[in-house]
Amino acid sequence: MNHLSTFVTRPLVAALALATVNVVAVHAEDAKPADPALANSLNPNDKTAEQDEKLLKRDAAVKVEDGKYFDAEGHPTFHVTNEGKKFDWYAYSGYRRYHAECHVCHGPDGMGSTYAPALKDSLKRLSYEEFIGIIAGGRQNHTAGGGESVMPAFGDNKNVMCYADDLYVYLKARAAGAMGRVRPSDKEDKPEAAKKAEKECLGG
Ligand code: HEC
Repeated sequence: MNHLSTFVTRPLVAALALATVNVVAVHAEDAKPADPALANSLNPNDKTAEQDEKLLKRDAAVKVEDGKYFDAEGHPTFHVTNEGKKFDWYAYSGYRRYHAECHVCHGPDGMGSTYAPALKDSLKRLSYEEFIGIIAGGRQNHTAGGGESVMPAFGDNKNVMCYADDLYVYLKARAAGAMGRVRPSDKEDKPEAAKKAEKECLGG
C-alpha cells in the first residue's frame, strides 16, 4: 500500500485511520449474539438480486453506529429492511454516487460493460482495502489485443473519495444479492455522522 500515499488525499487518510479504529472496536463485540434488529429483510421475489447465501452471511451487520453498519471484520456493510425496499443511508448514497461517477464505464447497477468489469462480481472477492486502493490509485492492464484497459485514479477526486465507503457498501449489497437491479425507493435518514464527515471531507 506504500505507493498509495502519493495519491491519497488527507481526508482519505483520516477516513482510513477511523476505519482502523472501528476494526478494533468491533472485534470486542464478536462474542455477543447477533442483534435481530441488524438482520436483513430481503425481497424474496427479486430475481435480479441473485442472492448469495454465503456472502449475505459473511457481510451481515454485527454492529451499527449512528446509521453506519459494520460486518464482523469491522468493515462498512449494508442493511436492507422491509423486504428489500428500504436501504441504509450509505447503500442508498452509494447507489447514487455509483451512477454519477462509475456507471459510464462499469455499466448500470454494477453489471459491467465491454470496457470495464462487472463490479457486482468483483466485490465478491475484493477486500475493503483492495477496493479503496484501486479507486484511489487506479489500475492499468495490457489487454490481449495490444490495447490498454485503464481504471482511472480517483485519489484527488473528492466526489469519489469522500463517498468511498458509500460506494463500497452499495457494491457489496449488489455482490451479495441484497439489492437487485432497483432504484432504491426508501432509505434510512442521513446520519449526523455522514453529514459531518461529508462537510469535513469536501471542505478540507
Ligand atoms: C473511464 C472508465 C472507468 C471509470 C469512470 C471507472 N472505472 Fe473502474 N475500472 C475501469 C477499467 C477499464 C477497469 C479494469 C482495469 C484493469 O483491467 O485492471 C476498472 C477496474 C475497477 C476495479 C477493479 C475490478 C476488479 O475486478 O478487480 C474496481 C474496484 C473499480 N474499477 C471501481 C470503480 C469505481 C468505484 C468507479 C467510480 C468511482 C470506477 N471504477 C470508475 C474503468 C473505469
